Amino acid sequence: MRYLTAGESHGPRLTAIIEGVPAGLSLTAQDINEDLKRRQGGYGRGGRMKIETDQVEITAGVRHGKTTGAPITLNVTNKDHQKWLEIMSVEDIEEKLKSKRRITHPRPGHADLVGGMKYRFDDLRNSLERSSARETTMRVAIGAVAKRILAELDIDIANHVVVFGGKEIDVPDKLTVAQIKELAKKSEISVVNQEREQEIKDYIDQIKREGDTIGGIVETIIGGVPAGLGSFVQWDKKLDSKLAQAVVSINAFKGVEFGVGFQAGYRKGSEVMDEILWNEADGYTRRTNHLGGFEGGMSNGQPLVIRGVMKPIPTLYKPLMSVDIETHEPYKATVERSDPTALPAAGVVMESVVATVIATEILEKFSSDNMEELKEAVARYRDYVKNF
Ligand SMILES: Cc1cc2nc3c(=O)[nH]c(=O)nc-3n(C[C@H](O)[C@H](O)[C@H](O)COP(=O)(O)O)c2cc1C
Repeated sequence: MRYLTAGESHGPRLTAIIEGVPAGLSLTAQDINEDLKRRQGGYGRGGRMKIETDQVEITAGVRHGKTTGAPITLNVTNKDHQKWLEIMSVEDIEEKLKSKRRITHPRPGHADLVGGMKYRFDDLRNSLERSSARETTMRVAIGAVAKRILAELDIDIANHVVVFGGKEIDVPDKLTVAQIKELAKKSEISVVNQEREQEIKDYIDQIKREGDTIGGIVETIIGGVPAGLGSFVQWDKKLDSKLAQAVVSINAFKGVEFGVGFQAGYRKGSEVMDEILWNEADGYTRRTNHLGGFEGGMSNGQPLVIRGVMKPIPTLYKPLMSVDIETHEPYKATVERSDPTALPAAGVVMESVVATVIATEILEKFSSDNMEELKEAVARYRDYVKNF
């Protein structure tokens, strides 16, 4: 399975083409719209999200509610575009109109300045429009298709925030993926510990009043993944390395951890490796899951536990200093509509890109022209692994 996305933040629409989805998968616009809605929610999100209320239009690869095996095309219209018709016009426009919403004061921490240097833009809006996290809309749409494949194979995925703007959320031990999903869904800030909800919302309000922003750490957990996805035979086949790229490719994500992650640097081997057990009902299991379900670049059959860190949003209502790219004089950075935090939304994006990598790996390992074949192949393999 492979895909490409296209589209600008204020352009007419966002598009994705996905190739390699097996035939016979039930897929409706509603499956995708639910996740698009989740991406637009979360405490601290403001005006743009209310304008958009994203809805996907599927224009290829699905017939009578089922995929056909042909490339799937997904489209999301940017409703806001109606207010940006001239500024985002594909056709050339009068010189004086071009200066409307032109950007010459790059925002520190965003793609504005370096994008301008690289592509020789005199209007940094060209950097902003494509580097904007609006693009993640399509990665969530693609992830929703991936999650439909995973659901057919009894693979379940959830995400929740574990650190919000430096505030650590204590997570009760032994929550199942389904419980995490349920608890995080009830929370406007995607935390499983409701006792912290109000304190963190108050903190977000305070950060907003200060014209500042916060990030944090999101955890994605995925249960039911068979052992043996990914491989150690070549560097670029390792499952953890593919997931690391996918997670760090999300706008503003700066790091990734698996299982105990960087804590492994502080522990002894006996406190990191997971002892191997076997029983007739479950086959191979582990006494612990410190390694987050990864050994040798492969899934080991335990739940995959992945954490991603998101830096604070770069656009500040109390802007940092920058430089005008025409005069080189100091100026305050441009303010483009923004939020104090987008961490709960970023969690939905992370869940989506992780689901996409796992679905892609499954389709690579198993016979997958058609969902029936795929389900049979995965079931056979699960049986074999259990009794290995
Ligand atoms: C869901 C989500 C929403 C975001 N919203 C904004 C935003 O409103 N304003 C902003 O400046 N950055 C926002 N970002 C982050 C920027 O897109 C990102 O920092 C920028 O593209 C530069 O990339 P880098 O931070 O990876 O270097 C958001 C990121 C995510 C994941």
